[in-house]
Amino acid sequence: MPTYDVDSLTPRDLARIVKSAVSPRPIAWVSTTSPDGVDNLAPFSTYNYVSSTEPVVHFSTPAVEDGERKDTPRNALETGEFAVNVVTADLLESMDQTAAPLPPDESEFDAAGLERAPCETIDPPRVADAVVTFECTLYDSMEIRSGFTIFGDVEYVHADESVLTDGKVDATKIDTVGRLGGPFYSVSDPLEFERQF
Ligand SMILES: Cc1cc2nc3c(=O)[nH]c(=O)nc-3n(C[C@H](O)[C@H](O)[C@H](O)COP(=O)(O)O)c2cc1C
Repeated sequence: MPTYDVDSLTPRDLARIVKSAVSPRPIAWVSTTSPDGVDNLAPFSTYNYVSSTEPVVHFSTPAVEDGERKDTPRNALETGEFAVNVVTADLLESMDQTAAPLPPDESEFDAAGLERAPCETIDPPRVADAVVTFECTLYDSMEIRSGFTIFGDVEYVHADESVLTDGKVDATKIDTVGRLGGPFYSVSDPLEFERQF
């Protein structure tokens, strides 16, 4: 089996291995509102949670020295608020459209023809068709080598009736999309497995 000392690989080759092997990655579809009032929406697959009982979620963007931050982390830092919408298979194409690098004064909600719905505790809107949304306030941010991570304190949760069974969120009813390496995605195909431990 080939093995690699990470120092012997180019950053590009190393990133290819990491992005292909750390998969499927969940996608945070993050809505923010700029201080000027423009609603922004973009996907981030460097997404996961740190704590689940007092939930903190996080996503990352490239660290910037002198360059411009992406709109999402800039808005989250400036306003302290963002919403994370879950991406399901029916929203894959719309999600992809919102990855367009639009100027800060243009909204990806409008460009992708997505309907907004109001949040309860924060100003940014959520994606009306998302089956689950977390309303977050900025918990912290941290630069780690070439990455910049935003942590969000989950303050409020929206879960659509369609993903509930007996009033509880049912994993088998959320058709989440995962990101693989390259141009590939996976859709959930739940495999029931009896845990032994
Ligand atoms: C599925 C998917 C996942 C992405 N994940 C990330 C990510 O984790 N970090 C990142 O910086 N950009 C990621 N991108 C690219 C951003 O979505 C893209 O740069 C977007 O234009 C950022 O928008 P903004 O400037 O409005 O924040 C991803 C794109 C797609 C399609």
